[in-house]
Amino acid sequence: MLVVNELTNIKGNKIYVRVDFNVPQKDGVIRDNNRIKAALPTIEELTKKGARVVLMSHLGKIKWKEPDPAKIEAMKKANDMAPVAKALQELLPETKVHFCPATRGEELKKAVEALKDGEILLCQNTRYEKGEEKNDPALAKEWADLCDGFVMDAFGSAHRAHASTVGVPTFMKEEGKSVALGYLMIKEVKNLSRCVEVSPEDRPYIAILGGFKVSDKIKVIDTLLAKCDKILIGGAMAYTFAKAQGKAIGNSPCEEDQLDYARKCLADAKGRILLPVDSVITDKFEEGERTIKVVSAEEGIPEGFEGCDIGPKTQKLYAEEIAKAKMVFWNGPMGVFEQKDFQEGTKAVCAAAAALKGKAFTVIGGGDSASAVKQFGYKDDFSHVSTGGGASLEMIENDGHLPGVDILK
Ligand code: 3PG
Repeated sequence: MLVVNELTNIKGNKIYVRVDFNVPQKDGVIRDNNRIKAALPTIEELTKKGARVVLMSHLGKIKWKEPDPAKIEAMKKANDMAPVAKALQELLPETKVHFCPATRGEELKKAVEALKDGEILLCQNTRYEKGEEKNDPALAKEWADLCDGFVMDAFGSAHRAHASTVGVPTFMKEEGKSVALGYLMIKEVKNLSRCVEVSPEDRPYIAILGGFKVSDKIKVIDTLLAKCDKILIGGAMAYTFAKAQGKAIGNSPCEEDQLDYARKCLADAKGRILLPVDSVITDKFEEGERTIKVVSAEEGIPEGFEGCDIGPKTQKLYAEEIAKAKMVFWNGPMGVFEQKDFQEGTKAVCAAAAALKGKAFTVIGGGDSASAVKQFGYKDDFSHVSTGGGASLEMIENDGHLPGVDILK
């Protein structure tokens, strides 16, 4: 596979770069520009060599099944890429960044043709096109025809076989155009591969899984059990496991259809899955006047209460386990860390993993856990903070394979 710096004849050529600029934003205000910053080394490699860079990314979700066209328009409006172009221009003051509000047709073609050497064109949200997520060949061909080469730098989207990630390089390869991986992709794949192909010096290997849904992480639990020495479970998914063990979980979230699977995981794990021994519970999810207390797993969560964080004994137990690790992969917070009352579990896991700096290989699998380490000031203490939540999980699930990477081989 080629890397972006190995592409030849760059000057004056139009290079299509798939980036992941799916940044958290509301009303045009970007809350975290990390993903934009992460793509800069690849973009600058190309602009400095005089390429005409055409950037494509999705932003948010457009639910095309929605029957009301007005609602579709509202979703589009909420996920307009224009503010991202502004943010990119601020990060690259020396380079001209243009924005094209079109996703196909003459307007887009003209905008690409008007680009000068070393300039950037960011196109409108790829998901404005219904065919994007279906990898529509006509759409992919139209995008592929715009440019002379393709660079994949959207790690966060590499698990999606969409027109902009897989369709475009498929056509480009057929036409003999160059396709390459960007610097962010190289960094992500290299670091996450270490969590897939585990070497003996990386043991004990501990995975920490949290977040809301068990079903989102089903396959990964199976795969991780085969690779890891222990899996520590927190977050809302812990309550499905607790219920599977016959414990009372009160009003905590539970995926009833996953109870059998949870039982199977626990049986297969033979003690290698650790579950919370206590929980912080509340009678009211919304902040304000409410009762918050700690209960043990044995005691269970009474009706009218729900679990929102791992308790202090679990924090201690998990921190002790993490301290023994030589490699840690963490995906998903331990509790509702957006609320101050339920931050301690996620903070404790953050601190314990961060304390391994220089002693173990520690990876944050994107998403909410990446936001949490940033929020709690531990970002620089980890070996790798991935920009892709779903992509990093899928890479582990599929033994290192991702459609957006495999197509470039
Ligand atoms: C992400 O945020 O995980 C990626 O940008 C992929 O987004 P998606 O889940 O909407 O495809």
